[in-house]
Amino acid sequence: MNRFGHTPVMVEEVIRFMRCGREGFYIDVTAGGGGHARAILDASSPSGRLFGIDRDPDAVKAAREALSRFGDRARIERGAFSEIGSIAGRFEVPCANGMLADLGVSSHQIEEVSRGFAFMKDGPLDMRMDPELGVSAADVVRDAGEEELSQMIFELGEERYARKIARGIAAERIRRPIMTTKALADVIARSVPAGARHGRIHPATRTFQALRIRVNDELGELGKFLEDGPPLLCSGGRLVVISYHSLEDRLVKTSFRELEKKGGFKVVTKKIVTPGEEEIETNPRARSAKLRVLEKE
Ligand SMILES: C[S@@+](CC[C@H](N)C(=O)[O-])C[C@H]1O[C@@H](n2cnc3c(N)ncnc32)[C@H](O)[C@@H]1O
Repeated sequence: MNRFGHTPVMVEEVIRFMRCGREGFYIDVTAGGGGHARAILDASSPSGRLFGIDRDPDAVKAAREALSRFGDRARIERGAFSEIGSIAGRFEVPCANGMLADLGVSSHQIEEVSRGFAFMKDGPLDMRMDPELGVSAADVVRDAGEEELSQMIFELGEERYARKIARGIAAERIRRPIMTTKALADVIARSVPAGARHGRIHPATRTFQALRIRVNDELGELGKFLEDGPPLLCSGGRLVVISYHSLEDRLVKTSFRELEKKGGFKVVTKKIVTPGEEEIETNPRARSAKLRVLEKE
């Protein structure tokens, strides 16, 4: 774990698949606390370079600190990976030997109560990775119609009690505004059948996932990145994507297949790669990780 409180997932696999070399240029589009970036820079020592981006200003600060010992081999800037096409104008080389997208949220975002991602602690219902985004989770919970909420929770959270939860939210917000993570988690727990309240996962898990995906337009971001990222690879360069839920993984799988079918790319991982048991034991966040690799021919 680094000072940012985030333990990077499947580091060994990322380095192995990326085939980091000493002259390479690497792009990390989800720099986070700089854990993977540091491993890439170590593996491409002494002269490999890395350009990292993150849409969260806290992550940009943390990654810059974590990578300071690499001097000008590492450059970290704030940005969304959907904008990789225009960000590429700032690279000083024509193409990348490796690119990494480690999707989702960092442990720092989850554990920092003020960011409003966690339902186990009470904080403002926010969930914006980029605090300058216009709409927070509280805004969605306040403004979306009951049917829209139900559909969102069902599709983005894959939640079977979506309809009941949406009904519970709609009834509660007439009485008082739902402004905190705990207030929302309580409404959800009251809305699901009693038997679902004490299961393996907290009853709010899927609804919080749905809201987070919606607030940050995570699938839109990923779709755009999967169009504009791969062409930035050099011949033989590889894109490694780690996803943490099935909606993301499905998008990655189909985009990689389509690129292979069109020609010019090959899917390196015919089957998904998942972490070993030992890693899952020491880092519970790794449990849902799925890694896929694409290579430019
Ligand atoms: C799982 S963490 C990455 C952790 C990082 N690999 C490490 O080793 O510390 C995901 C990061 O991606 C960032 N992120 C998520 N969606 C993004 C997007 N569309 N554009 C840029 N950064 C994004 C989040 O802010 C978060 O810091």
